[in-house]
Amino acid sequence: MDSVNFSQRTFFEPATSDLAQAIGRRMARNQLLYDLTTSNPGSCGLTPNTEKTLSPLQTPAAMYYNPNPRGILSAREAVAALYNNAVSPERIFLAASTSEAYSMLFRLLCDPRDQVLIPQPGYPLFDMLAALDNVTLQHYPLFYDHGWHIDLASLVAAITLRTRAILLVHPNNPTGHYTTQQERAALSRIAITHNLALIVDEVFLEYPIESEAGNSFTQPGEDQPLIFTLSGLSKICALPQMKLAWTTITGPAEAVAEATHRLDLIADTFLSVATPQQLALPTWLADRREVQSSIIARVKANLAELDRQIANTAISRLPVQAGWAAVLRVPATLDDTDLALQLVREAGVAVHPGSFYGFPPKGWLVISLLIDPQHFAAGINLLGSGIQQVNPT
Ligand SMILES: Cc1ncc(COP(=O)(O)O)c(C=O)c1O
Repeated sequence: MDSVNFSQRTFFEPATSDLAQAIGRRMARNQLLYDLTTSNPGSCGLTPNTEKTLSPLQTPAAMYYNPNPRGILSAREAVAALYNNAVSPERIFLAASTSEAYSMLFRLLCDPRDQVLIPQPGYPLFDMLAALDNVTLQHYPLFYDHGWHIDLASLVAAITLRTRAILLVHPNNPTGHYTTQQERAALSRIAITHNLALIVDEVFLEYPIESEAGNSFTQPGEDQPLIFTLSGLSKICALPQMKLAWTTITGPAEAVAEATHRLDLIADTFLSVATPQQLALPTWLADRREVQSSIIARVKANLAELDRQIANTAISRLPVQAGWAAVLRVPATLDDTDLALQLVREAGVAVHPGSFYGFPPKGWLVISLLIDPQHFAAGINLLGSGIQQVNPT
């Protein structure tokens, strides 16, 4: 291998964690494992109707290639309708996934080593995406005090001359909380003052659980900065395999026009969205409520089972305003990755350590609420006894 030089940006430490190895070993030995980490709706038996999903792909129009960097108009019109037509289809860009949409925005806004602010705790998706686009991430803290809040003072303190955007996930994953209207107003003021864009990930917006649904950032507000709002099929329609997502652009007309022009060039270079999926999008979006209702019902039932089992134990949970995950508070006696390892090896149950999402290293675990209810109930039972073994009373 010494004749070839590889890029620094693809130099990563081996990715397999001790936890993944322990899970792999247990499965290789055919030992029972209750996996409470899965959040792929398909593996949890939560998919839209097969026939209804596949039929709009079978159209002769799918055989005709008419490339458009923003995507086929009928697909963008369907996305606009999702937001009550608050955004014109001209300001919507399709991409193969939300992850790809992020990458396009990083290239649009950042030169190498420019910075983007991201929330902590949060979903560990951005590290890799940012590294591949030579973008530096700075965390801004969220804190819990009768609900989750953005530490706005720390966020402002983290802004430097190289900061280009504030990223927020609304509702956030895995904390499951919506950004409040007051926070939205404060973030808009900060973004305008420092010439920053807002990148708002709304993939879980339509999954309210213990709260009313939050408002989309696509809806007009006062004194708006440049806002990119992201969502996609993987959560909205529980169809990650169909690889289709979108970005909407709102804000001051001049900035929107410039962003649109530049994104046209980026998207035109790749033209990454397949035609059949774009043609099927209006039907899939129109039908989305059916699978969303099943998912919301599943999440609520699993939460009720969780509450039943953890009542009067050393485990508690935070409220889940929205989304597919629950954050558990457990006695902070062991490092959470060691605890998660022990739970796999000795109790046969897999959970995510909170530190995986940027929680402090002790006392937090994260579980998926999409799991098949029987499997979930048995897994929580094992989790309860596993935690008790570590912390005998
Ligand atoms: C908050 C959030 N945004 C984006 C994604 C990725 O979505 P996509 O499949 O569209 O890349 C995920 C994946 O779980 C996520 O949790």
